[in-house]
Amino acid sequence: MTWEITGDSERIFHHSPNQSCTIRQNNSALIGETHGPQEFIQRENNRAALSRTLPQMSFSRSRNERQCAHNKIEMSKRILITGGAGFIGSHVADELLESGYTVRVFDSLAPQVHGPERNRPTYLNSEVELLLGDVRDERALSKALEGVDAVYHFAAMVGVGQSMYEIAQYTSVNNSGTAVLLQQLIKKPVERLVVASSMSVYGEGLYQTDEGEIVDGSERGLEQLRKHAWELTSREGKDLQPIATPETKTPSLASVYALSKYDQERMSLLIGRAYKMPTVALRFFNVYGPHQALSNPYTGVLAIFASQLLNNNAPSIFEDGLQRRDFVSVHDVAHACTLALEVPEAADEVFNIGSGENFTVREVARRMGAAVNKQIEPEITGKYRVGDIRHCFSDITKARKILGYEPIVSFDEGLEELVNWLEGEVAVDKVTQAKAELAARGL
Ligand code: UD1
Repeated sequence: MTWEITGDSERIFHHSPNQSCTIRQNNSALIGETHGPQEFIQRENNRAALSRTLPQMSFSRSRNERQCAHNKIEMSKRILITGGAGFIGSHVADELLESGYTVRVFDSLAPQVHGPERNRPTYLNSEVELLLGDVRDERALSKALEGVDAVYHFAAMVGVGQSMYEIAQYTSVNNSGTAVLLQQLIKKPVERLVVASSMSVYGEGLYQTDEGEIVDGSERGLEQLRKHAWELTSREGKDLQPIATPETKTPSLASVYALSKYDQERMSLLIGRAYKMPTVALRFFNVYGPHQALSNPYTGVLAIFASQLLNNNAPSIFEDGLQRRDFVSVHDVAHACTLALEVPEAADEVFNIGSGENFTVREVARRMGAAVNKQIEPEITGKYRVGDIRHCFSDITKARKILGYEPIVSFDEGLEELVNWLEGEVAVDKVTQAKAELAARGL
């Protein structure tokens, strides 16, 4: 077994999903310890217990608990995150800094996400070097790439609905932006490229018949939605059962956004292979957590329900509320991103990053009500969004096996954290408003 030491503190080196070893430096002596599958399970349990007992719902894995590949990119290397001032990127920056990397962010601070002032977000770690620029701007990007060892490509427009009327803009930022980045990278390849893809590339998730026959590629038409016949059906007219969706499901691209995400991942993997630049694509499921862009009208259902409830309004549920999704905490996603950077076997692969669990939208509204401590019945509207899928949730077997990814934030813990953060956001607004009112009165 190869041992590698890059610092003087205790670190865990990850060798396979079921094995890890710890090296401690005690004065000048090195103490090594290998943990087999049994101990690994024990450690996982301890980690889950730890996350439950942490104050302020902090899910950050301590440095000693971090899993690092033994051929890992050395600490203190500089990592560039395009779009790193956004929701997911900012959490990845925190994880990387905690692991000892140097982090540079290249971001346009788009007004739709960051407001008209386009200020540096307060949540962005002060140790992050922030360069302002558009990913399509060759010169600015080339400067951002100077001295960089690895790249996360997160810069993208992310509204599914909006992509259907801002076609040129989405194609320009997402598709051409990725092309410009890859054009630069072939001149000076990095040790690793990690690109953010999305569950939206699947369209509907995978289904099976009552007899267990797998159905890949079924969809609902507008006529069906008009009749409020929500479920997908077999040729015989029987309801199909949703099952976890693996990476092998045939993509079904139902929006310009989904098309652009598929284009980003395929182009990156293709160029990565051709130029021997190890590349990883991560298909994120419904990611939620602090720093979600609330001013953005395309934010997900959890933030919408939480805001409605905090304002004493009933959450409005589309269809009958029995549609299922896979909500994954941004902390688990950020950890998956670190693994995608560090695990050698991840190169040239695509991974689902979800929670491995799924809930109906009704259940989500109920749990959110409990998290905000409000007894408000949700309204089941029977309305529908054209192009909405019925069910999609992840099969994370591949990420577990190859990346050693294991989500640790339970849905209820994640909701509590989201609600605490949202309340803080509201409180901040009120404080600002109150201060302004006092100032206006000369107080
Ligand atoms: C979509 C995208 C996904 C993107 C996410 C957040 C697809 C297949 N997926 O996911 O890539 O990351 O948006 O931008 O396009 N709902 C309500 N009431 C509401 C809002 C939503 O009942 O007020 C329901 C929706 O009908 C849906 C579920 O909640 O069934 C989830 O909706 P949403 O959070 O918008 O995400 P997705 O559509 O799953």
